[in-house]
Amino acid sequence: MKEQIAQIKERALNEIESATNAKILDEVRVKYLGKKGELTLILRGMGSLAPEERPIIGSLVNEVRDELENKIEERETYFENLEIERKLVEENIDVTMPSKRNNLGSVHPITQIINDVKEIFIGMGYEIADGPEVELATYNFDKLNTPPDHPARDVQDTFYITEDIVLRSQTSPVQARVMESKKPPIKIICPGAVYRSDSVDATHSPVFHQIEGLVIDKNISMADLKGTLEMFAKKCLGEKTQIRFRPHHFPFTEPSAEADVSCFVCGGKGCRVCKGEGWIELLGCGMVHPNVLRYCGIDPEEYTGFAFGFGVERIAMAKFGIDDMRLLYENDVRFLKQF
Ligand code: DAH
Repeated sequence: MKEQIAQIKERALNEIESATNAKILDEVRVKYLGKKGELTLILRGMGSLAPEERPIIGSLVNEVRDELENKIEERETYFENLEIERKLVEENIDVTMPSKRNNLGSVHPITQIINDVKEIFIGMGYEIADGPEVELATYNFDKLNTPPDHPARDVQDTFYITEDIVLRSQTSPVQARVMESKKPPIKIICPGAVYRSDSVDATHSPVFHQIEGLVIDKNISMADLKGTLEMFAKKCLGEKTQIRFRPHHFPFTEPSAEADVSCFVCGGKGCRVCKGEGWIELLGCGMVHPNVLRYCGIDPEEYTGFAFGFGVERIAMAKFGIDDMRLLYENDVRFLKQF
């Protein structure tokens, strides 16, 4: 019996020593010390021994079991440490490595201009209005005093969805929508996309952006329009900016004008940006035509107003010195990052 126990001990110690991982070690433990383990079976079979042998064998088995348990525990700790070390090496963070660059985007030049303009007009007490890009022809044209035979309504200029529905060719229809839904005083601007059947080149795109302005109240005059636009030009393009009006025609304003600003690059001397003119065309504007007021349910005897509209791309290009409009739509981050 003692012989047998000694053999078990030797075999177990060998196997513990040669176990190469925690799982194999556990199998060894079960094999010798588990419920049906070899050593356990010997303890269980003690009944068949002579009574005087029992305590001797019993303490021997216990001794061996303690020794095996200690050895197993030692190996377990060894494997645990090995695992910890492996993780430490594997998950080590090299703080001297260059970090991954977080590629933060920038605000698109068109959005920058829209945001700037919004801020300027909100500062003057304006509200921001909005309207549909797929618009009824009535709002895009009729209510703006643009009769059915007007050249602007030509399919060559405007995208028609049906005879009555268009992709708005200007932000001006928002004027009509606001006048119909709100009682004067009205003071709004409306930035948004507009569509025209133009082919793409350095100064044209079938989709571009405009900002519309509308003020309706009692006793609004051309002087208010001039003052407002001058204030806007100075805030947007620099305090030294001058403004001039040239007579023009729009169906929805009377009188109508185009406003130019003194070139904010050369100050009016003439340069590449203003093409030697000293002035840059800025926007269309005028006093809201009495017909438009009437069509939109406002009494032209009681109220007057002014309106203006301009292209955002044109301002972005002039302000940022961009010479090709297509650059604004290509979404090349190497270009966009510069602004
Ligand atoms: N809608 C005009 C255009 O697209 C711009 C314009 C001119 C808007 C005069 C106005 C205005 O509100 O009064 O060319």
